[in-house]
Amino acid sequence: MEKDYRTVAFSQTSITELMIPAYANFGGKVHGGILLSMMDKVAYACASKHASNYCVTVSVDQVDFWEPVEVGEMVTMLASVNYVGKTSMVVGIKVISENFKTGTSKHTNSSYFTMVAKDDNNKPTLVPGLILETSVQVKRFLKAIKQREINKQNAEQMREARLAFLSDSESSILKHERCVVR
Ligand SMILES: CC(C)(COP(=O)(O)OP(=O)(O)OC[C@H]1O[C@@H](n2cnc3c(N)ncnc32)[C@H](O)[C@@H]1OP(=O)(O)O)[C@@H](O)C(=O)NCCC(=O)NCCS
Repeated sequence: MEKDYRTVAFSQTSITELMIPAYANFGGKVHGGILLSMMDKVAYACASKHASNYCVTVSVDQVDFWEPVEVGEMVTMLASVNYVGKTSMVVGIKVISENFKTGTSKHTNSSYFTMVAKDDNNKPTLVPGLILETSVQVKRFLKAIKQREINKQNAEQMREARLAFLSDSESSILKHERCVVR
């Protein structure tokens, strides 16, 4: 049975990259899109290692940038498989930025990418189960189950809300907002 299961450690992946001036936005800080692209790459590497297969990004849970990343800092992304379903995996990513000049490092954000393994016919394919070896790994797995439930409920609520937007009563909400309807 163990042969169809893999440890979290098996696929843990990190990437580190120096933030060069070409990555800066007009405010001189690193573009959020540069970090998102790095996150997508590390999520792919981690998920495809666990699955031993090609994977696609299906969904990204909330990404909040708590602190800006400066040009000249070294950014490290740490990725682990937190949860596996049948064909999907939730990869948790922790982003750390290190400033050599000040000798400090900061945890700038964390995010969760849902990745799906695909077979040679581009169909979702079964991924190995996960061996949880620490209480932190168990907590992350449970947290991912809860997050999936919440995401499903949110999707359902948004579907109902979209239908309600069509009714006149809902459009009265706009009267209290900073917009004009022309
Ligand atoms: C996501 C995708 C694989 C779903 O394919 P599907 O044939 O509908 O397959 P399923 O409904 O069986 O879903 C497959 C898995 O994805 C999960 N999934 C689908 N949509 C999801 C979403 N919005 N959020 C989280 N998980 C999702 C399902 O829960 C299922 O997980 P499980 O097998 O672990 O239970 C397919 O829509 C796809 O390939 N999308 C494009 C992905 C892509 O190209 N990404 C790169 C963007 S450039």
